[in-house]
Amino acid sequence: ATSLPDIQPGRLEIIRNEKPIPPPPSRTLKFGHTFTDHMLTIPWNAIEGWGIPKIEPYGPFQLEPSSTVLHYAQTIFEGMKAYRDETGKVTLFRPDMNMKRMNNSAKRIALPTFDGEACLELIKELIRLDRHWIPREPGHSLYVRPTLIGTQKYIGVAPPSEALLFVICSPVGPYYPNGFKPIALYGTTEYIRAAPGGTGAYKLGVNYAPGVMPQKEAAALGYAQNLWLHGPEHYLTEVGTMNMFVVLKKEDGGFELVTPPLDGMILPGVTRDSVLTLAREHISGKNKLDQLTDNLVVSERPITMTEVKEASLSGRLVELFGAGTAAVISPVDRIGYLGEDIHIPAGEDGMGSVSRPIWKELVGRQMGSIESDWSVVV
Ligand code: COI
Repeated sequence: ATSLPDIQPGRLEIIRNEKPIPPPPSRTLKFGHTFTDHMLTIPWNAIEGWGIPKIEPYGPFQLEPSSTVLHYAQTIFEGMKAYRDETGKVTLFRPDMNMKRMNNSAKRIALPTFDGEACLELIKELIRLDRHWIPREPGHSLYVRPTLIGTQKYIGVAPPSEALLFVICSPVGPYYPNGFKPIALYGTTEYIRAAPGGTGAYKLGVNYAPGVMPQKEAAALGYAQNLWLHGPEHYLTEVGTMNMFVVLKKEDGGFELVTPPLDGMILPGVTRDSVLTLAREHISGKNKLDQLTDNLVVSERPITMTEVKEASLSGRLVELFGAGTAAVISPVDRIGYLGEDIHIPAGEDGMGSVSRPIWKELVGRQMGSIESDWSVVV
């Protein structure tokens, strides 16, 4: 199987949308509801490998009702964002990380792997064609959603002999309907998202559907999202739409930036990695961030709800925020836990003294106003 053709950008066929629609004004966008004029599709089968890539009008495609994706959730996805600056320059943020993670996800559920760089070339081609769809308002971008599904006509449980990789694009603003304001989380003790040896560290569709009903229950109680906990100790894991960070005051007056370790149960987020890298480069002096204290340590370590609650009561809890591609950095101002609310200090904009400077640098690098090799020209 190793000698089968990989993705071949040179064979791209483009079918232009004859009925393009004008992009709606950014202020009317609701996350994930609007799609651009075109999509990218690349078929695969076990005999011929990756086939002819096509950029074609966004629209429905035909699937066998027996397709493996529809029965056994043979589907993986990625989320990345493209930005457009005042000069018209278009960039993607660390897209190599997404291509790598997508291949890891593919391996985990026996979908075909592919040349990430070749796929990225095609994604860039798609973004170039629909570049006028990229919103330019602060906090807005083009959300790019690569997806890979098993399409074989077969209801046995096995690696599919046919698959389809497709990429759609959606102009977006903030992920949460309350805009950029702090959100409330529900520390969930009735259900779990992942378990040791499970699939929590991979971006599989199957990790998301079971969270929808618990999220409905959390919403009915007034919380935006479930904070997934692990074990009888109630270790913080992640939120499903983002990784978690906690800032604690140290004995000496400095700060500790804590995030749960990559233990196989949480998604290795690109934004998570970016926040950790920026904080560590500040500490090492490689890249000092304005307004950020030097008395800072970074810990990837387990942290329990008891520790968060005690820190809140003793005044040691400085801030708590989520980090994700869709969510960017989302401050949290309370967590419902075992029938009460843990209150978290949050400033006007929700950001605190540690997250604000990191957020500024992150967003600057994403939008391209701060130059870095994380920003890839499209
Ligand atoms: C992302 O942040 O890109 C994600 O994939 C989360 C998604 C559920 C919106």
